Amino acid sequence: MKKIILSALIAGTALIAADSAPIYKSGVLLPPNPEAIYKKECASCHGVDGKQTSFSGGSTVEYLPINGLEAAKLAQELKDYRIGTILNKQGYGMLMKTALTDLSYEEIDSLAEYISNTMK
Ligand code: HEC
Repeated sequence: MKKIILSALIAGTALIAADSAPIYKSGVLLPPNPEAIYKKECASCHGVDGKQTSFSGGSTVEYLPINGLEAAKLAQELKDYRIGTILNKQGYGMLMKTALTDLSYEEIDSLAEYISNTMK
């Protein structure tokens, strides 16, 4: 069991290392890059246009489209998901929390602007 965990950890580290350009922690690396963040953290489930409403991970998970939402409302929802106890509309709030934990509030604000302005 320990071996399995260890090799999973090593594989994970290799993945992170391969994806070299850091996109987080904009407190250090200003300015935030919402397009890169969206592609890395959101597009797999919400699609490049924000219109994807399901993905299969064992069982099929369904949710609402995120295009066309107003930026301020979107930013607040994302922060609520990030906290992890406030928002859980379909029972999958933990998936969202995981996607958002590495992001600062500044990055979340710029991500919300990006989604709202580019995904009509
Ligand atoms: C692993 C798949 C997955 C990833 C990655 C993901 N989401 Fe989600 N998203 C979901 C699911 C599932 C829900 C429904 C959560 C619930 O039960 O409340 C959701 C809900 C949302 C909602 C609320 C939609 C609504 O109006 O009900 C928004 C907004 C959202 N996601 C944006 C994002 C953004 C921005 C990112 C990237 C930082 C992201 N998501 C990453 C799966 C994902």
